[in-house]
Amino acid sequence: MKRLGILLSGRGSNFVAIASAIRERRLLGAEIAVVLSNQADAAGLTAAREMGLAAFAVPSAGRKRAEHDAEMIARLHQHRVDLVCLAGYMRILSAEFVRAFPNRILNIHPSLLPAFPGLDAQAQALEYGAKVAGCTVHFVDEAVDHGAIVVQRTVPVLDDDTAESLAAKVLEQEHIAYPEAIMRVLSGDFRFEGRRYVRRAKPSTRRLRGPEP
Ligand code: GAR
Repeated sequence: MKRLGILLSGRGSNFVAIASAIRERRLLGAEIAVVLSNQADAAGLTAAREMGLAAFAVPSAGRKRAEHDAEMIARLHQHRVDLVCLAGYMRILSAEFVRAFPNRILNIHPSLLPAFPGLDAQAQALEYGAKVAGCTVHFVDEAVDHGAIVVQRTVPVLDDDTAESLAAKVLEQEHIAYPEAIMRVLSGDFRFEGRRYVRRAKPSTRRLRGPEP
């Protein structure tokens, strides 16, 4: 069983989607080891506690990034986390944090990266006039919203969309994309080609069965 560490800063709907996927056995071979938030009043933390999960606030306000990250890393190690999932964690990770979990941190971003990184991605897409929007689950490297892409899902941008309506449509897709990406990564059935995440081809059943008579 692989142990997930969820990091969030607010609402936590992506965390709830991951927890539901585990509970409903749509996401196999994973359990949530710990939920951490840099915001003590994050709704996601309350939801985690109501589910009976280990959930802690590690407040970031007024603290040096290095010091805060060191505490986050220590908590994740303490809970023997295999894969860190950023789920609306609105803080940039230090290089030390990324190096502590090499290729073992995923993030979800509400745009089709590399378009519209950073804040207010859906409003950026709308303002730019994009006709397709969506979300991206990607590995975290030392640059912001940048690592290898695991899953993207799209939604059409309609003429009467607002930033809010677009965000709601994208969020629905996020809730599908994140459990799917975690499942793929935990399977280990992939390799990197440059910055490309590539799934290994499944061996054909014919090869498994041997040659036809
Ligand atoms: C989600 O839309 C997620 O993609 C976004 O924050 C929201 C968190 O919602 N993350 C980022 O913008 C990171 N750059 P949630 O707390 O309900 O999961």
